[in-house]
Amino acid sequence: MVKESNYIIAIDGFSSCGKSTVAKALAKELNFAFIDTGAMYRAVTLYFLRNKVDFFDESAVREALTHIKIDFVPNGETTHILLNGEDVSLEIRKMYVSDKVSEVSAIKQVREVMVAQQQELGRRRNVVLDGRDVGTTVFPHADLKIFMTASPEVRAKRRFKELQSKGDISTIEEIRANLAHRDHIDTTREESPLRQAADAIVLDNTNLTPTEQLKFILDRYNKI
Ligand code: DC
Repeated sequence: MVKESNYIIAIDGFSSCGKSTVAKALAKELNFAFIDTGAMYRAVTLYFLRNKVDFFDESAVREALTHIKIDFVPNGETTHILLNGEDVSLEIRKMYVSDKVSEVSAIKQVREVMVAQQQELGRRRNVVLDGRDVGTTVFPHADLKIFMTASPEVRAKRRFKELQSKGDISTIEEIRANLAHRDHIDTTREESPLRQAADAIVLDNTNLTPTEQLKFILDRYNKI
């Protein structure tokens, strides 16, 4: 049967579970676009920090959002994220952004604007999106929903390695604390908290290699 609309694959889960790695590989394998929704919230956070936007001032937040333009530009194996034309792909991964991103992504107006942009991106072509609320709020009718988890220790170690490779000097304790803080805010916030969609397939990747994770998802995809 030929499908009339495009395909949407939603990959949600906790921070540092390896969602982006597997989502990127999946998008490449299927020739779909890849949208890292967390990167969008990070770019907004960076803009707010640079422009000293008061997170609690509703009108300042609303006004600031009208000045933010986010674009994704594929570049070989990676996708770069542009904030008002500036490549901020590396800057948004730094700890000072990670420290504030959960607070910014809990703001209602921020989520409304980001969700609308993500839906627009998904209307145009086949996409793999990774985030927290893709399968529950952004695309509740996604063709395939994966909910990723991994043990907190493995997640902290993965993020530590990733940051170290980028020259970041954060300690494993700082990373552990940041992950616990973000898990708490992400799961308890009022606006689309992180939760598993009823029809999502759980993928615990604590002991799985990237290749095994990709195979797990491709096997499910091939059944739809
Ligand atoms: O995936 P990440 O760690 O780069 O995401 C950064 C933050 O953005 C995360 O702490 C929660 C938030 N986020 C969100 O609220 N909704 C999404 N769809 C994606 C990320």
